[in-house]
Amino acid sequence: MKAVRFNSPGNPAAVLTAGDIPQPVPAHGQVLVRMLASPINPSDLMFIRGQYTLQPECPATPGFEGVGIVEQSGGGLRGRLFRGKRVVVLNSRGGNWAEYTVVPSAQVIPISSALSVEQAATFFVNPATAWVMTQEVLKVPQGAWLVQTAAASSLGTMIVRLGRHCGFRTLNIVRRETQAAQLQALGADHVEVSDGSEGSEAALASRLRSICGASGVQFAVDAVGGPLGSAVIQSLGPAGRMLAFGTLSGLPLKFSPRTLMTVGSSVEGFWLGNFMARQGLLFKLGLVRRLTNLIQQNVLSTEIGGTWTPQDIQAAVTAAEDSQVHGKCMLRFSR
Ligand SMILES: NC(=O)c1ccc[n+]([C@@H]2O[C@H](COP(=O)([O-])OP(=O)(O)OC[C@H]3O[C@@H](n4cnc5c(N)ncnc54)[C@H](OP(=O)(O)O)[C@@H]3O)[C@@H](O)[C@H]2O)c1
Repeated sequence: MKAVRFNSPGNPAAVLTAGDIPQPVPAHGQVLVRMLASPINPSDLMFIRGQYTLQPECPATPGFEGVGIVEQSGGGLRGRLFRGKRVVVLNSRGGNWAEYTVVPSAQVIPISSALSVEQAATFFVNPATAWVMTQEVLKVPQGAWLVQTAAASSLGTMIVRLGRHCGFRTLNIVRRETQAAQLQALGADHVEVSDGSEGSEAALASRLRSICGASGVQFAVDAVGGPLGSAVIQSLGPAGRMLAFGTLSGLPLKFSPRTLMTVGSSVEGFWLGNFMARQGLLFKLGLVRRLTNLIQQNVLSTEIGGTWTPQDIQAAVTAAEDSQVHGKCMLRFSR
């Protein structure tokens, strides 16, 4: 079968190749899935560079998310029930950028046939993160401001639309002027353009506070880190909370403990995998139903920037990090 592989961590466009490897065989409790599509997410690119929490065991195949058809069960009730079904594949060890992958049957979710292959392939990671951070963890009230960085990302645009849907206001930080109009068209309440350069923190924090009013920023989510994320921390008002959920700049957050002490604000790490591991079956079923509805209503849908075959992997990963390409880049598999 065809699979995307890398032999050592590095720049994705330089280290990835598409080649033939043996088809994997599912063990008891696992299923064999014929992959239809898999998105190129920042976590995949960090994994390939060796910068992700999980280190690759090379030669390795990337791909944490995607959609496919269960072709075979290695044994077990769940696997038998899922045979022939179209499922979302949450591959916690990577491996979805291949014609076939093997995962524990607990890591697949049957998906509504009403969703396109592209929306099914991007069904869980970003939509669930947008919902859970704003509605389950921060519980942003109607009318309140939520500050977010990397607001023009796929996940950021979902949060903008979710703000409109749920009634909270979004204060969006982007790094390019052209992104401001795009976000306003989606319903962003305010857009700040900042390149996140060293030294810009105090001025940005003061602008954020002036927009959110006397109580300062109460709710924030940061995917960038570095000076941008640090500015958001400085802007937090009394009991304000920021979730740190990404490291797009690759730079650390810097702040004096006094910044938090003085107003009783807090910075918390958020990782969807950890959150979901703490949830029961009822919550998970309810979340899948809710995400399906919100994707169908175009609130948590993903804009697609283009599709590529595994043979075009270099072009695909280059496009995924090209600021001129708007939307999520997707690998499509067919046999
Ligand atoms: N913790 C979790 O559980 C969790 C779950 C899902 C996603 N995430 C994180 O959420 C973030 C967004 O994911 P996504 O799939 O929505 O990404 P995406 O669609 O691929 O978009 C990436 C965005 O990041 C922006 N960006 C890249 N480097 C930047 C920097 N140094 N400073 C400011 N902006 C920068 C890009 O801006 P340009 O358009 O200007 O290039 C682009 O808009 C990622 O960090 C991802 O890892 C975390």
